[in-house]
Amino acid sequence: MTKATLHEIIEKITNISNFDISYPLEDRGDLACNVSFVVAKQNNSNPKDEAELIIKKLKDDGDIKKAFSKIEFAAPGFINFYYSKNVLLKNAKEILKQKEEFGRGDDKKDKILIEYFQPNIAKPIHLGHLRTAIIGDALYRILKFSGYNIESDSHIGDWGTQFGLLLYAYKNFGDEKVVEENPIEELNKLYIDINEKAKHDPDIREKGKAEFAALEKGDEENKKLWEKFAKLSWQEFEKTYELLNIRKSDHNWPESFYEDKMPAVLDELEEKGLLKESEGAKIVDLEEYGLGVALLVKSDGATMYLLRDIAGFIFKKKQGFSRQLFVVDNRQEHIFRQLFKVLDLMGHIKSNGEGEHISYGILKLAEGAMSTRKGTDVSPEVLMDKANELALKIIEEKNQDLENKEQVAKKVAIGAVKYFDLSHNRHSDIVFEWDKVLNFEGNTGPYLQYTHARIKSILRKADNSSNELSDDSDFVDSVGDEEKPLLRYLVRFPEVVSDVAKNHYPNQLCEYLYNLASKFNSFYEAAPVLNEPDETKRALRLGLIMAVSQIIKNGLGLLGIEAPEEM
Ligand code: ARG
Repeated sequence: MTKATLHEIIEKITNISNFDISYPLEDRGDLACNVSFVVAKQNNSNPKDEAELIIKKLKDDGDIKKAFSKIEFAAPGFINFYYSKNVLLKNAKEILKQKEEFGRGDDKKDKILIEYFQPNIAKPIHLGHLRTAIIGDALYRILKFSGYNIESDSHIGDWGTQFGLLLYAYKNFGDEKVVEENPIEELNKLYIDINEKAKHDPDIREKGKAEFAALEKGDEENKKLWEKFAKLSWQEFEKTYELLNIRKSDHNWPESFYEDKMPAVLDELEEKGLLKESEGAKIVDLEEYGLGVALLVKSDGATMYLLRDIAGFIFKKKQGFSRQLFVVDNRQEHIFRQLFKVLDLMGHIKSNGEGEHISYGILKLAEGAMSTRKGTDVSPEVLMDKANELALKIIEEKNQDLENKEQVAKKVAIGAVKYFDLSHNRHSDIVFEWDKVLNFEGNTGPYLQYTHARIKSILRKADNSSNELSDDSDFVDSVGDEEKPLLRYLVRFPEVVSDVAKNHYPNQLCEYLYNLASKFNSFYEAAPVLNEPDETKRALRLGLIMAVSQIIKNGLGLLGIEAPEEM
């Protein structure tokens, strides 16, 4: 029985809805409810007495009787519920039956768009872009699995006057050959140099603007060059998808895509009395909401990033996306608040969840993590090379004879990097330290992958890969105190996934998986599996650990991490 179902039943019994169903502390049941506090407050009575009355009524409910073997009062006013062995076993059986489908949510009507991994043309991909890719990809998988009708978009930065400067620099100082050999690095160099020059020479800035204006008007040469920059950049972006095993975006609506959609937005703002002129610039005044001034068009006529985002939101809404999620770092919090406010004033956002900024902190490298370079100029490629090298080294130490070491190392490296990111609350800044990232102990990707592989190896030794619990023999009597904590924890998986699909905090799924793996490891230390003499108990335990390995695999899969069979 899920938290939601239990909530419903208690609501019916008490006529109260403002209470919580939560997970109690270890050993104190599977679900806990605080409704008796609320009732006692209302009746000016004692929570314990109210709890007892409610428990009595609950015990008359058929579904409750089936689901729970024990319902008890827990001081000072909780009601705790313990699943019956039948429910626990049935759940484990379901896992073994449904395999990777276990926990999938019912189809939902909502059409959702999630935007992640939005690097900029002609600029290097930096570590911040790794986080949007990793978090966005995981959330896409989790929402999809939860039944949402979700698609992804990559809002590539490819428009704005800075491209005029780049065009100017390329035409005057660029070397085609050099750029083709090392496109992003060279184009970025050109861009940095020209910005330096423009600082001392306003004329250059003007020339850059003129180049962008020409591009906007469709100048052949500039358009060709700009398309070339985009193409060369995409070759780099593609590498990152591959490098990290990230799903390719379903849509590619870059900033330039909204070029012809901006005038209509300005007209609409004008019509709705929201657009103001200020020193020649076009703005929306958001002072009264504490959000300052939203600059949409500069006095020289240059359109801004924010304006493209407004046009983008409206366009995507017209495509049927009732919710839009943006996985973008926390430095852009202000701009997203402005975006949603303007859309709200225009009448395009009617409720809170329609636009959501999924914000995250900075990823930094610990001192000395990359000997050759410093700070954030480390590319994903360099980072993953290092991760692969270290993972391979560890695997060679741990398992000399493993076949396909390189392939396994690659999965471990990707898993370690992704999991390190995802296991932190996304708002926090994270510091990359290799001995933490690639640790085989603790709340890490390799620990979970290793636990999974360890179970698989036990199952191979048992030489029985069939569904241990699917036959008719009755395991209920074999369920003891050793099995219970694991069986009970397995029940939570679908709920954890659906919670993350709603709150967008993948670290909660990580925490769940880590706890599950730890529970397995304690279980395996205490209880014999392969050597268990009692046939039924042995079969139960094999089935149980098989279910655990399935859930670890499913959970990692939702985070975009593969679980090797052996490592
Ligand atoms: N390209 C931007 C950057 O690299 C991120 C784009 C964020 N998405 C958006 N719709 N504004 O910082």
